[in-house]
Amino acid sequence: MESRITMLCALFLACFAFVYGSPASVPVHALTKATYVSWTSYNFKTILTWGPKPVNYTYTVEFYNKSGISRQRNPHCIRSTETECDLTNELVHLKEDYTAEVLSEPLPGMNADHEELPFTRSKIFCPYNDTLIGRPDFKLMMSADNKLMLIIYDPVTALVKNNKPQNIRDIFKKSLKYKITYNKAGSTGKKIETVNENKVDLSKLKLDEDQSYCFSVAAYIPSRKGNKRVGEWSLPKCSSQENKSIFEEYGLAVLGGAAVGILLLVIALIVLIVLCCKRLQRPAAKEIITVYTLT
Ligand SMILES: *[C@@H]1O[C@H](CO)[C@@H](O)[C@H](O)[C@H]1NC(C)=O
Ligand SMILES: *[C@@H]1O[C@H](CO)[C@@H](O)[C@H](O)[C@H]1NC(C)=O
Repeated sequence: MESRITMLCALFLACFAFVYGSPASVPVHALTKATYVSWTSYNFKTILTWGPKPVNYTYTVEFYNKSGISRQRNPHCIRSTETECDLTNELVHLKEDYTAEVLSEPLPGMNADHEELPFTRSKIFCPYNDTLIGRPDFKLMMSADNKLMLIIYDPVTALVKNNKPQNIRDIFKKSLKYKITYNKAGSTGKKIETVNENKVDLSKLKLDEDQSYCFSVAAYIPSRKGNKRVGEWSLPKCSSQENKSIFEEYGLAVLGGAAVGILLLVIALIVLIVLCCKRLQRPAAKEIITVYTLT
């Protein structure tokens, strides 16, 4: 009986020694907690980033939404040594609030004791409300009945549905509007207009006929909060004046390019003429020399 107790004690101690004394065991408190866990999201491409670069441990990302009970993982972000995780295709319920946690885990093959792994929680992120909408492209054109039209192209997102890339109109539908700012070329007084459609008849803005105007466009989602409502502004594009001057037709950059081109041509011509003149003189000089050597 007594020997049995000693044996059990010995076994227990052996186990204890194995768990705590093994050189491969890492105490959980030695794992560094992730810092600066943050979301960056542009046209629904959503990436979670954090620091620092792990040494002798790994990170695992878990995320969950309010309605979902279970936690989810992206297979690429399990026991990873990266400090970012692309969750674009995981956050499938665009209108949900998501929270992510970055857990620090020992290297594979290392023992972890049974304490909870250290982790850092992200802020709440909702793709539909929080992703930044990039600058839209647009063009100015004359309609068949001679009206100035502004055509906006919906930015394409990182999301794909039935093998088709989704643009922001596919996602926001009627909630998507655009803001257009415009000013007379060379003046700073800007006016702003909100439109529902991608095809805008500018004749209703009562623009001065003989003036050139510059336009800028941004996506506008009124249902969002604060500065999330307006997306990135496009670079300005300008209409030409009614009596089109050469400057508005081609733009200063092109004209500058043309001027430099002409200058280069003139220089090339001068160099060519100088070279030709020298060529013509040289044989004459040679003849004189030969004449001298003959005499
Ligand atoms: C990482 O592990 C190696 C090998 O066990 C060790 O030599 C090194 O000091 C460790 N580095 C840090 C920063 O803990
Ligand atoms: C998105 O924003 C709207 C308007 O602020 C808000 O009512 C809604 O609850 C937000 N959705 C989420 C999931 O946070």
